[in-house]
Amino acid sequence: MLSRRDFARLTAFAGTAALFPGRLEVDAAPLPSTPADPGEPFWREVRSRFLLPRDLNFLNAANLCPASLPSIEALDRNLRRYEASPSPEVRADLMAKGREKSRGLLAEALRVTPEEIVITRNTTEGNNVVSSGLDLKSGDEVVVWSDNHPSNLNAWRLKAARFGFTVVSVPTPPSHPGADGYVDLFTKAFTPRTRLVAITHVSSNSGDVLPAAEICAAARSRGIMSLVDGAQAFGALDLDLAAMKPDFYTGSMHKWPCGPKEKGLLYVNRAVHDRIHPSVVGVYAGAVGISRTLETHGQRDDASVAAVTDALEFQASIGRPAIERRVRELGQALMEGLKKLPDVKLWTDPTPSRSAAIVIFQPGSLDVRKLGAALTVDRIVCTTRGGDHNPGLRFAPHFYNTMDEIDAAVGAIKKYLARGV
Ligand SMILES: Cc1ncc(COP(=O)(O)O)c(C=O)c1O
Repeated sequence: MLSRRDFARLTAFAGTAALFPGRLEVDAAPLPSTPADPGEPFWREVRSRFLLPRDLNFLNAANLCPASLPSIEALDRNLRRYEASPSPEVRADLMAKGREKSRGLLAEALRVTPEEIVITRNTTEGNNVVSSGLDLKSGDEVVVWSDNHPSNLNAWRLKAARFGFTVVSVPTPPSHPGADGYVDLFTKAFTPRTRLVAITHVSSNSGDVLPAAEICAAARSRGIMSLVDGAQAFGALDLDLAAMKPDFYTGSMHKWPCGPKEKGLLYVNRAVHDRIHPSVVGVYAGAVGISRTLETHGQRDDASVAAVTDALEFQASIGRPAIERRVRELGQALMEGLKKLPDVKLWTDPTPSRSAAIVIFQPGSLDVRKLGAALTVDRIVCTTRGGDHNPGLRFAPHFYNTMDEIDAAVGAIKKYLARGV
């Protein structure tokens, strides 16, 4: 946790950063308003609202994101206030007002109502609240995508074994089928016994963006509920759940929204409020709608729940459409650069409508483990992927990255392809 003095010290670095390239350039001042067509100077301003050192090329958003400075400051402020006086008044203020403000902003970010939002620990918990909370029994089927995260795949299998329903897995296609292909893939698996379809909005294993609205509509028209895992979409894409109309949608604050760790959301469409039961029953319920029953988790980290507000306000101040355009622009630049390199096999579909900012590729015949280690020395942070499914590297840039970092990442891959690792 940073003290005010730490912030002052870090902020002081901003002035000397030009003298010490690579040193921290941290600036806690409010951002200038987002230009209509923001260029690199604006995105460098955004970068300076993160504690990431300038020389650290952080391309691992799909795994975990750094918290933005406003959310770190809020965490610090809230926690100090709490610990200085853990009185019922301060608790009530942070817990009741702070938590409900966070809920309101989550609803705003998703274009739904606060009555439909549960503040969870993370996407994993949200997915499991759904698979544990529905009345599913023998004869019922749940269609899942085999590419889903374990919390939306293994969790369904485990609960099927316990409650007696059946899980039907839709295999990951060998090549990108596109929007119509994906809708086809899932609708073919629907039967009169299907009760729910569980998908992933943006795949962390391929980068594919699924046509979530179309799949949810196809399900709805057959009386089938839908669960969309938005771990890789919330905070990167400008979401509109009122248009998508899933029954359930899940996400994590510590990924693309750059918020406090171990905070997440579960959206429950009001149409299915009477179909889901709580798995955890306690006290200190949320104040409105479905949070009254699904969010009774007892004592929580109220300081951190309240800091969700500041992370979301920071993204809203930049503008969610601008953030989506930027992450897509970075993803496209990365793929353009990588495509030009000999022997690079791009696993992610570069078609702009089919992917966003998760880029997975095989760097020729280079040993990926050794390459990952070499990139760490180059101060590039990414994920290495073993196994048979899209092996290689995953780069996931976000709105704190600059174009020179994209160039540097492509340059590093080019260097190692030419000389080996
Ligand atoms: C698609 C998807 N769902 C769920 C998760 C789990 O997220 P969390 O650990 O925040 O619950 C991940 C993590 O990478 C993911 O990629």
